[in-house]
Amino acid sequence: MPTRPPNPAPATFEIHVVPDAPALAEAGALKFARAASDALKDRGIFRVVLSGVSTPRALYSRLTRRPFRGAIRWDRVRFFFGDERCVPPDHARSNYRMARETLFDPLEIPAAHVLRMKGEADPARAARDYEDAIRRRFSGRPARFDLVLLGLGEDGHTASLFPATAAPAERRRLVAANDVPKLSERRLTLTFRALNAARRVVFLVSGPEKASAAAKILRGYRDLPAAGVSPRRGTLLWLLDEAAASKL
Ligand code: 6PG
Repeated sequence: MPTRPPNPAPATFEIHVVPDAPALAEAGALKFARAASDALKDRGIFRVVLSGVSTPRALYSRLTRRPFRGAIRWDRVRFFFGDERCVPPDHARSNYRMARETLFDPLEIPAAHVLRMKGEADPARAARDYEDAIRRRFSGRPARFDLVLLGLGEDGHTASLFPATAAPAERRRLVAANDVPKLSERRLTLTFRALNAARRVVFLVSGPEKASAAAKILRGYRDLPAAGVSPRRGTLLWLLDEAAASKL
């Protein structure tokens, strides 16, 4: 069955399959560097949203080595997060901690260049504060990230937009505190409004356990949250390794 772009379709839609996880990290790093180059040429700053958990670790580490370490103007990069667990920043489950260990510390990124979601704070307050901080960093203009990196959960979630939760339906706010009953936890997450305003969105999907969700979404099944990611005036790229693409 052929693959289909989301509806409404993004400006451009691509699927790129690479052999394995190391190739996924390399391909992701190349896309990151290209997005950074275009943003710095056009606007002198590169605003990127990071995803969490494990797949992006290899990409972040790859960016700290040649040629990417020296090729990107890291002092002109501003980092944001797509979602965060409601835990302190030094907690083992913190997406911020993972990015700090694999990317920010090795590249000596100043703390002021990273806008961290405050997982340790009251979730509703942290969501409002993060949205206010995003709006300030875009000087009140519509928040349009240059690149959003996203992962895919086996259940079809992305960021912390989970099936059968409230945040996927949020149309007004940029950031939500989302109750996730099946995990018995709350999460902080960017909403579709924030994600779909981006210039570029790249999904990084690795492993056979993602193959079913990826195939459903890329064949046009609409009911999984990750199917709702479609940057109207942007490009959408699904980067998968062969194991994750095995049911396409
Ligand atoms: C989270 C993540 C989440 C992640 C997927 C896939 O905090 O749960 O942001 O959306 O991207 O769960 O994670 P992996 O790609 O590491 O499997």
